Amino acid sequence: MQEQLKPIFERRSVRDFTGEALSQEQLHTLLAAAMQAPSCRNKRKDCYLVLTNREEMCKILQVHPYASMLKSAGAAVIVCGEPFGGEENDYWVEDASACMENLLLAAQGLGLGAVWLGVYPLRDRVEGLRGLFHIPEGVTPMGIAAVGVPASTPEPIDRFREDKVHWERW
Ligand SMILES: Cc1cc2nc3c(=O)[nH]c(=O)nc-3n(C[C@H](O)[C@H](O)[C@H](O)COP(=O)(O)O)c2cc1C
Repeated sequence: MQEQLKPIFERRSVRDFTGEALSQEQLHTLLAAAMQAPSCRNKRKDCYLVLTNREEMCKILQVHPYASMLKSAGAAVIVCGEPFGGEENDYWVEDASACMENLLLAAQGLGLGAVWLGVYPLRDRVEGLRGLFHIPEGVTPMGIAAVGVPASTPEPIDRFREDKVHWERW
């Protein structure tokens, strides 16, 4: 495997963390990587709520049933978007998702672990997070990245399947 592509091919969801805090530099790198993502019409409506305080992170468990790893993660990054209206409104989801994937790959590249916790389009989770953290109307949480120092890391899986690919015509 090419060294440069290791973060892509070795990334797995990590749900088991040591509880260590992340440095400001690590958090900055993760956020900067997220913001490097492509963006529909370059609107760049992605925005982030970063939680590093354990008590605040664990509030998410009140509104998200599959977020128990936040008890030991170093940070929770809530990746949000501002739906931009018009015909291309829904592309805000793709934009925010591209940012999320960049963040997950950056975590892998830094030797950290991360997992994407789904939020949008589940209304209870979107409104639950809005209520907990005073996220303004006009901003919608798309997903949460639980990030931290891995306590254990799942093995990479080769998922290439020839039968998923159609060449030249279906
Ligand atoms: C949109 C989306 C929502 C997800 N939500 C959760 C979640 O709520 N909790 C969780 O533990 N993992 C969640 N995951 C992670 C997936 O379960 C995981 O990516 C999948 O099982 C494949 O494993 P891998 O990431 O290790 O390759 C989510 C992934 C995506 C893309």
